[in-house]
Amino acid sequence: MTWLGCQRIELESCASTNDEAARYARAGASHGTLVIAERQEAGRGREGRAWASPPGGLYVSAVMRPPLPLADVPPMTLAIGIAVCDAARAFGAPAALKWPNDVLVADKKLAGILVETQSQGGKLDSVIVGIGVNLGIVPEAVAHRATALQVDRETFLAELVAQLERWVDRYVACGLESIIPAWTERMARGLSAIAQIAGAPLAGELTGIDRDGSLLLKDHTGTVHRVRSGDVEVIRPDAVLSPTA
Ligand code: BTN
Repeated sequence: MTWLGCQRIELESCASTNDEAARYARAGASHGTLVIAERQEAGRGREGRAWASPPGGLYVSAVMRPPLPLADVPPMTLAIGIAVCDAARAFGAPAALKWPNDVLVADKKLAGILVETQSQGGKLDSVIVGIGVNLGIVPEAVAHRATALQVDRETFLAELVAQLERWVDRYVACGLESIIPAWTERMARGLSAIAQIAGAPLAGELTGIDRDGSLLLKDHTGTVHRVRSGDVEVIRPDAVLSPTA
């Protein structure tokens, strides 16, 4: 069933499409409402970072109301990452996923995903799925670590909507296990990470995700550790790790 984009709100400019979408959701916007802006004045990324949002890129937030318990919302980000990755691949970009939800091309960031949840009385009310994709020109502020796709915004958005419907529906109907193989297949290779295990740092290579969403970290001896995602920091693919770091 087609549900994403059932309602579209197009803005010339706003602070953040996530804030606008959250406002529409609180006012009752339906599952699948999209908010799209030409540019953002205060685009936000994860962990309070800014998201450079000059005209030309895609800045879109979707209001989703999946029938999920609150605890099942964070892994939904993985389904969204797969969708963004596949949308980029549909235009020939060799896109890959960097955990938790960056989309890279040749080790540079093409797209970012910011998922925010609104709840009431312990129950999920809405999920705001914000996606930023560099199209055309790479924003100057991030030129050294970002890349852009040469695709027209509407064309990319149409593909993105189709992929999001596909992967979000699959996650909601069949759960995390049903998307982990697809996520692992698309994972960028050679990513280094540092995990905190019982208060001590452990460095290694990220090799995948376990069935319950734990990350798999291979240390310098070849031992694979299952680590909780909240305890892991992924560092750039080109970082050099000392075995004892
Ligand atoms: C990240 O990589 O840290 C996430 C970036 C998410 C950026 C998008 S652009 C559309 C939506 N509005 C925002 O303010 N942020 C997200």
